[in-house]
Amino acid sequence: MSARGNFSNKMGFILAAAGSAVGLGNIWGFPYEVGQGGGAAFVVIYLIFCFILCFPVMVTEIAIGRKTQKNAVGAFNDLGLKKWNFVGKLGIFSGVLILSFYNVIAGWAFGYIFEMVAGNFAIADQFGTYIKDVVKVGSYGLVFMGVTAYVVSKGVSGGIEKAAKLLMPTLIIMMLIVAGYAMTLPNAIDGLKFYLIPDFTKITASVVYNAMGQAFFSLSLGMGALITYGSYVNKSDNIVSSAALITLTDVGIALLAGLMIFPLIGFMSGGTMEGAGRGPGLIFVTLPQIFGTIGGGLGIMTGTLFFVLLCFAALTSTVSLLEVPISYVVDELKIKRTRAAWMVALTIFVIGIPSLIGNGYSEFFSTAFTTYKDGGKDTDFLSFVSALANDTILPLGGCLIAFFAAHIWKKHNLDEELAQGAPSYKGSFVQKYLNFAIGYFAPIVLAIVFVLTVLFKFFGIQIF
Ligand code: PHE
Repeated sequence: MSARGNFSNKMGFILAAAGSAVGLGNIWGFPYEVGQGGGAAFVVIYLIFCFILCFPVMVTEIAIGRKTQKNAVGAFNDLGLKKWNFVGKLGIFSGVLILSFYNVIAGWAFGYIFEMVAGNFAIADQFGTYIKDVVKVGSYGLVFMGVTAYVVSKGVSGGIEKAAKLLMPTLIIMMLIVAGYAMTLPNAIDGLKFYLIPDFTKITASVVYNAMGQAFFSLSLGMGALITYGSYVNKSDNIVSSAALITLTDVGIALLAGLMIFPLIGFMSGGTMEGAGRGPGLIFVTLPQIFGTIGGGLGIMTGTLFFVLLCFAALTSTVSLLEVPISYVVDELKIKRTRAAWMVALTIFVIGIPSLIGNGYSEFFSTAFTTYKDGGKDTDFLSFVSALANDTILPLGGCLIAFFAAHIWKKHNLDEELAQGAPSYKGSFVQKYLNFAIGYFAPIVLAIVFVLTVLFKFFGIQIF
């Protein structure tokens, strides 16, 4: 064990990194993006991005982290390439932005535990009022941020690993059961069709950009979260196979979330799939309904357990989001971990206040804040920040990280790191693909997507 602490074994790292990846992005974000993106066509594009583009970026982040044993900024300094540490700084910036709005949603989910305990399935219809009660949902958010700060203050191998080990498998089982039940409902088949049979005419520019943002967000990529976690990985672990397992777990859980939600929407809409494009409120409206149809004590039990597990999944993600700035502050600015965790968490909570009150409570932050060029409609602060961070900065970060690793740090150094703990890596097909993807494919595609997304989303200019 080094002075900074290590994950106790390979499984520990995979669980913690999968814990970072699996969260609200899978269960809250993925279904609503699919719903807005026209169904299965979005799913197909998302899957392609995850495997051919994001996977190589994930491998690169973990390798940089393990090589340097440093935080997202320190890693670049350590490689002697200080000029590039702006990539890490950009990552910290986007991590702060993401956590600021992510915690708001986590607060909503946390409050739902109590609604389920009370058997209040009708919350589905009152969701709009629920999120407007900013003192209530804000307090839930504050508690959630506090728990995150507490876990981070205890350090990486203590809290993060243990929580992930127990809860992830439980979550998967629970989701399988709920999905299985949803499929027995009338008109579930219409939901499945919407979700699984692609209609490629639905692919528009914004579907492609959103799928890219969703892939990065869901896999926790492009902001140094996995550089930071990679810094705690043992030299004897196989990075490529770990990354493959993390990607598969994350994608698998997102797909499973869709299998819960879409059959249910099929049922609720009588097969028309109306409401699928509702947006960020989607799971908060649909899920209570499924527990309501189960009804009685069993409905209360499953509903409560589900939101408890969702909150734990969100917690392992918020912990990784907070860990990025904290490991920077602890390593580079030499501030004590506990103090840093509480101070930074509180600051991020404050930064999140416009996202909290921009859901109906404050007119300004709900609509008037900015006119989103994407479709020309007004947007709320939370959607704006998430478009800025997830769809824009993360792909840019991924582009820079891949370019950096292949051309500045150099491919052979990256290969050397990846070969440690992976005896058959050198000369394999995987090595050839990763070299191509990290060196050319990912930087080029991501740079193009970044430019197009900025033009489209923030300036209303559509080239394709
Ligand atoms: N991947 C997490 C989720 O899907 C969110 C996250 C993004 C965590 C970026 C860390 C870094 O919920």
